[in-house]
Order: sequence, then C-alpha cells, then structure tokens
Amino acid sequence: MTIRIRDAAEADVEGIARVHVQGWRETYKDFLSPEALAGLSVEERVQLWQRALAEPEPRAKLLVAEADGGEIVGFIRGGPIRGKGAELLATEAEIFAIYLLDRVKRQGIGRRLMAGVFDHLSAHGLRSVGLWVLRDNLSARRFYETLGGTAGPEQSFDLRGQMVTEVAYRFDLTLQG
Ligand SMILES: CC(C)(COP(=O)(O)OP(=O)(O)OC[C@H]1O[C@@H](n2cnc3c(N)ncnc32)[C@H](O)[C@@H]1OP(=O)(O)O)[C@@H](O)C(=O)NCCC(=O)NCCS
Repeated sequence: MTIRIRDAAEADVEGIARVHVQGWRETYKDFLSPEALAGLSVEERVQLWQRALAEPEPRAKLLVAEADGGEIVGFIRGGPIRGKGAELLATEAEIFAIYLLDRVKRQGIGRRLMAGVFDHLSAHGLRSVGLWVLRDNLSARRFYETLGGTAGPEQSFDLRGQMVTEVAYRFDLTLQG
C-alpha cells in the first residue's frame, strides 16, 4: 500500500472526522471510560474540521495521509499556539491532533506527518512546537521521544466526566533537519 501525504481539502472533511472518531475509540478504549467514548460522533467532528479548514491562518497546517483508492487513514493539524494550556506549554506552535487508524501504524506515516507540519511551521518562522498527550498513552509518548520531543509539565482536567492527566512534549524546531 502506498500512502500519500498531502494538504487536506474540503472533500476530506468526512474522512478526517471518521479517522478522528475511530482513532479515539481505538486509542483510548484502554484509558477512558465507555461513557466518555460513547458520545463521539462523526457528524460533530465534521463540523469541527470544516471550521478548522476554513480558518484563514497561513501558519496552520492540516495534512492527510491518503491510501491507494483515496481512503483517508490519518491526519495531523498544527499551527500557532492558542487556547487552553498554551501558557503552560510555552511554545510558539502546537500540534492540535495527530491520528492514524490502527491498521496503518508503525509504517513511518506518523513521522512523515510530523515532518510535514514541522517544516511548514519552521518556514513560517516558528521555532518551537508542543503538544499534550495523555500520560497513559505510552505508545504515543515513545513516538514523540523518538522524534526528539522532551517531556514537560502535566495538567489534569475533566474529559467528558472523567479526570485525566496529560503530559506536555516540546520540540525545538531550530534543531530539526
Ligand atoms: C502516535 C502515532 C501518531 C505514531 O505514528 P506511527 O506512524 O505509528 O509511527 P511511526 O511509524 O512514524 O514511528 C516512528 C518511530 O516512533 C517510535 N514509535 C512509534 N510507535 C511506537 C510505539 N507504539 N512504541 C514504541 N515506539 C514507537 C519508533 O521508534 C518508530 O520507529 P520504528 O518503527 O522504526 O521503530 C500513531 O501511532 C497514532 O495515530 N496513534 C494513535 C493516536 C494517538 O495516540 N495520537 C496521539 C494523540 S496526542
């Protein structure tokens, strides 16, 4: 199977939303309660990704991983930092989401998606990027560490009725290359 990494387009929104919901279910079934996962809906995520795509921020990037035949099997979104947790993360940019379907993991696609966003952020003069990952999500943490990420502070919050703890990872984009 060949995987192509490319900019997301309007027609990809449904595919991104589907990967987002399936990715949550596959990844978080071991860490989150069934109640916290029950309310996930593709329709709700379609609206979220439509808004993200319409955002006129040139420094933000939404990339998809497309399999032969056009199926979206993964995506990543990054851009200038904003919102909840920004002060604690203390980086210029943030990875807001990265998800792949289970069946395409460990083939280097995550690495290619991260590199695509890192290059874009660097080209726009952003020098550091951070993200939040669930403390228990050890696979993703190993992935970020392999890519040169350094663990930072933790924060806890209520996620759909369940208290969870996330840990920050930071990357120095001036050292990537
Ligand atoms: C985390 C994720 C994006 C990684 O993408 P991926 O395509 O599977 O990872 P890659 O194949 O690019 O891995 C690159 C390197 O990272 C490390 N790595 C990746 N997954 C790992 C794991 N599960 N355990 C240990 N190391 C891992 C390895 O060193 C790997 O290189 P190798 O395969 O040559 O040994 C992907 O697994 C995913 O979508 N997970 C579910 C969603 C998720 O947790 N998202 C993060 C939310 S914050």
